[in-house]
Amino acid sequence: MFVSIQDAIKKGKGKVSVRGWIYRERGSSKIKFIVLRDSSNIIQCILEKDKISDKEWENSQKLLIESSVEIEGTIKQDERAPTGYEINVTKLNVIHFAEKYPITKDQSTEFLLDNRHLWIRSRQLTAVMKIRSTVLESFREYFQKKNFYELSPPIFTPNACEGGSTLFEVKYYNDKVYLTQSWQLYAEAAIFGLEKIFTISPCFRAEKSKTSRHLSEFWMAEMEAAWYGLDELTKDAEEVITYTFEQVLKKNLNELKILNRDISKLKKVKTPFIRMTYKEALKALQKKGMKVKFGKDLRTIEEDKLVEGCDKPIIVTHYPKEIMAFYKPRDPEDKETARCFDVLAPEGYGELVGGSERDIDIEELKKYLKKEGANPDNYSWYFDTRRYGNVPHGGFGLGIERLVAWICGLPNIKDAIAFPRTMLRKTP
Ligand code: 4AD
Ligand code: MG
Repeated sequence: MFVSIQDAIKKGKGKVSVRGWIYRERGSSKIKFIVLRDSSNIIQCILEKDKISDKEWENSQKLLIESSVEIEGTIKQDERAPTGYEINVTKLNVIHFAEKYPITKDQSTEFLLDNRHLWIRSRQLTAVMKIRSTVLESFREYFQKKNFYELSPPIFTPNACEGGSTLFEVKYYNDKVYLTQSWQLYAEAAIFGLEKIFTISPCFRAEKSKTSRHLSEFWMAEMEAAWYGLDELTKDAEEVITYTFEQVLKKNLNELKILNRDISKLKKVKTPFIRMTYKEALKALQKKGMKVKFGKDLRTIEEDKLVEGCDKPIIVTHYPKEIMAFYKPRDPEDKETARCFDVLAPEGYGELVGGSERDIDIEELKKYLKKEGANPDNYSWYFDTRRYGNVPHGGFGLGIERLVAWICGLPNIKDAIAFPRTMLRKTP
C-alpha cells in the first residue's frame, strides 16, 4: 500500500511504498540519489546498482526531473538528508519518463508566469496554495459557527456595485451584462430571508493599474447581515482575520517554513486591532509628515505610512461620504462622513477589507448612483429591498489574495492565486 511521504517519515523505519515525482537527481556509476516529491513532502531515496535489477538500474539512469515513479524501500533517519530521512530503494517502477524540464534555477518572474501550469507544482506555490486552502476553510468555519448561511451569488449581473470604470462587459445572447464586482447587492436582497449570510466567490474588475495588489479576477470572502451596524461589522472583520491566523499557525507551520515566513510577525496579529476615524488618520499622517486634505481618498503610500510601525492592522472608519460608493450611508452624527470602514494590513499589504452599513434611503441612493454615472432606473429591483420590510444592515468584503499574500509574505499578489489574471496576463 502506498503512503504519503509525510506518513512514511512519520513511520520513520521499516518498509514503505511511496510514489511521486523526481524533484532532484544526481549520481555516479554505482549509486544514484533521488529526491522524491509528493503533495505532502520530499524525501531522499538512494538506489544502489547491486541492490536492484539491471533493468531498474538502467531505468534510474534515464530519470529526469519531474519523471513519475513508484518506489519501495526501507526508510531510516539520516540527518544529512534534506528532510531528515532517506529511503534505501529495493524496487523502482517508472510510470513516466519526463522530457527535459524547462524550469531550471533562477528563472525570471515572467518566465515562471508563462509556465505557470508547470510552476504550480513548485514547493513554494504548493505551500501558498495549502495556506490559501486553510484561509478559505477558516472563513467558512468562522461564519458557520456563528450560524451564517453560505449563499452563492450570480456572476453575470446587469449592475455595477463598485463604480462603472472597472466593469468587464460580456456578450449575453443578444444583450450585454457584466461580470460581478461584488455579491453585495444580491446579498442585501437575500438577508430578508436568511438574515446572516456569507460567500466566497470570484469577483472581476478591469483594474487599469499594474500594481502588486490588484488582480482582474480575484476571490472575495463577503458577509452581510440584517440588524448589523459598524460595531458588529468591524468586530467580525478583525475576529475572522485573527481566527484565520490562528488556524494557519496551527496547520501550516511546514508551509510557512518553506516560504521563509517570519512566524513571530504572524503571532502578533491579535484582537483588538487599532481603530481610528478617517479624520484621526489624517492627523496621524500629518504627524508623520504627510498632508492629506479632507475629502481625498487615502492612496497606497498614505495607507502604508499610516500602518508603518504597526504589527497588526488598522481599522479606519468614517471616510468622507462624497468619495464613497453610493450605498455607504451618511453618518447622522458627522454628516460629511459615511458609516463605513477599511481594514489596512501592516507590512505594506494595503487594504484587506472594505465594508459598511447600507444606505436605506432610496432618494439618497439614486442621487449618488447618478453621481457615479449610473442610471438609477437599472437599480429598481435593488430599491425594492428598501420598500418591503427595510431594516438596518451591513456587510464587508475581504480580498482573499491580499490576505494570503500577507500571511505568506509574498512580494506580489499574483502568487496568491493559482492562475493569475491581470491587465497584462490572461494565460496560461
Ligand atoms: O473595498 P471593496 O471594493 O468592497 C466591496 O466590493 C464591497 N461591495 C464589499 C462588501 O461590502 N460586501 O473590495 C473589498 C476587498 C478589498 O478590500 C480588497 O481586499 C479586495 O476586495 N479587492 C481586490 N483584491 C485584488 N484585486 C483587486 N482588483 C481588488 N479589488 C478589491
Ligand atoms: Mg475598498
